[in-house]
Amino acid sequence: MSHSSPVFPAKLLVTGGAGFIGSNFVLRAVSAGHTVVNLDALTYAGNLDNLAALASNPQHIFVQGDIGDAGLIARLLDEHQPNAIIHFAAESHVDRSILGPEVFLRTNILGTFTLLQAALTYWRSLAATSAQHFRFLHISTDEVYGSLAPSAPAFREDSPYAPNSPYSASKASSDHLVRAWFHTFGLPVLTTNCSNNYGPFQFPEKLIPLMIHNALSGKPLPVYGDGLNVRDWLYVEDHCEALLTVLERGRVGETYNIGGLNEQTNREVVARLCAVLDRIHPAGAPHDRLICFVTDRPGHDRRYAIDCSKIHSELGWRPRESFTSGLEKTVSWYFEHDDWVKRIASGEYRNLLAQNYSTS
Ligand code: NAD
Ligand code: DAU
Repeated sequence: MSHSSPVFPAKLLVTGGAGFIGSNFVLRAVSAGHTVVNLDALTYAGNLDNLAALASNPQHIFVQGDIGDAGLIARLLDEHQPNAIIHFAAESHVDRSILGPEVFLRTNILGTFTLLQAALTYWRSLAATSAQHFRFLHISTDEVYGSLAPSAPAFREDSPYAPNSPYSASKASSDHLVRAWFHTFGLPVLTTNCSNNYGPFQFPEKLIPLMIHNALSGKPLPVYGDGLNVRDWLYVEDHCEALLTVLERGRVGETYNIGGLNEQTNREVVARLCAVLDRIHPAGAPHDRLICFVTDRPGHDRRYAIDCSKIHSELGWRPRESFTSGLEKTVSWYFEHDDWVKRIASGEYRNLLAQNYSTS
């Protein structure tokens, strides 16, 4: 089958759209004119506070449900007839995958399988023109490529898979399933592998929001091991822009790496955060006095780096935000939204569904 450009504006079925990246994407997609059916199980990581701005917007339809529920997915596809599926839903935190891997396998592997099967049935039922426009966009991670030596070249789309944590192994499995559903069944898929995101609405278990929250509360800033592990950091809005670009113009069946061209050791990230906090929220003494070194993460990958020349040369995308401006924005956002973090800390955020949303 030949593939035509997707319909714009479109109706999108987004999974995991109440999480960190998903909610940023939903807000952006709706403001760009798309209509979003947002399927999210509202695990601990799902937070409808993130979508408060859309509470009475008819372009956002929220449904609480699990990507592993085949009947629900089939019903949603049939009822809403989306032009694309954007698949964010996952268990996403490496430390949790070490403590309890089972739910990672269930959601990230079996959940993706269930979604692919439902998408295939739906896609096959579409009229020829709609089927040519349809896309399944799978959101994945750079962690599937494993760990790099200090001077090794950055990950490319053809780098071998070498996942090291239960999280990255489950994401790698999901990438392979998506690839297989394209090659075997012809489902029009796109896959993206992105580096570490940061920005508004990130759950305060991940490095940057955890450090901001602890620093603002005068608590220790726990750096794992020697703090010399390297990550590439991308502002979340740049990631969302890249995803819309891939959805619109990406070649079906292809993978695109997305990165921030911004490698930093964890020590550097925390030191820079402390410097921004000293300026925005002086605490009488420098925040870096709170830094402490704690036991390392088991199997801690040493370095990730992304070569994103393919998405740049093919689709014209590159990150806009610098790490300096992105960190400033992020620290300011958390400083101005301390009620958002407080509602997470108290568990209050989990009551919003009953208060503000109706589910179908
Ligand atoms: P997150 O943990 O903040 O959000 C995940 C969302 O998925 C939550 O809203 C949660 O309720 C929902 N969810 C979990 N299990 C579900 C299920 N069974 N059915 C329906 N919904 C379910 O994650 P994130 O950081 O926003 O990451 C989103 C996606 O992007 C993930 O697939 C992740 O692997 C990928 N990714 C994340 C990063 C990053 O730095 N955060 C980088 C690259 C790729
Ligand atoms: O690379 C993309 C991945 O980035 C995504 O696929 C994951 O979903 C996302 O969680 C993230 O994984 P990391 O493990 O890199 O992110 P995290 O924020 O947990 O940790 C970043 C680095 O900081 C890592 O080297 C571990 C370290 N760290 C983390 C925490 C929470 C600390 O030193 N102290 C901490 O308290």
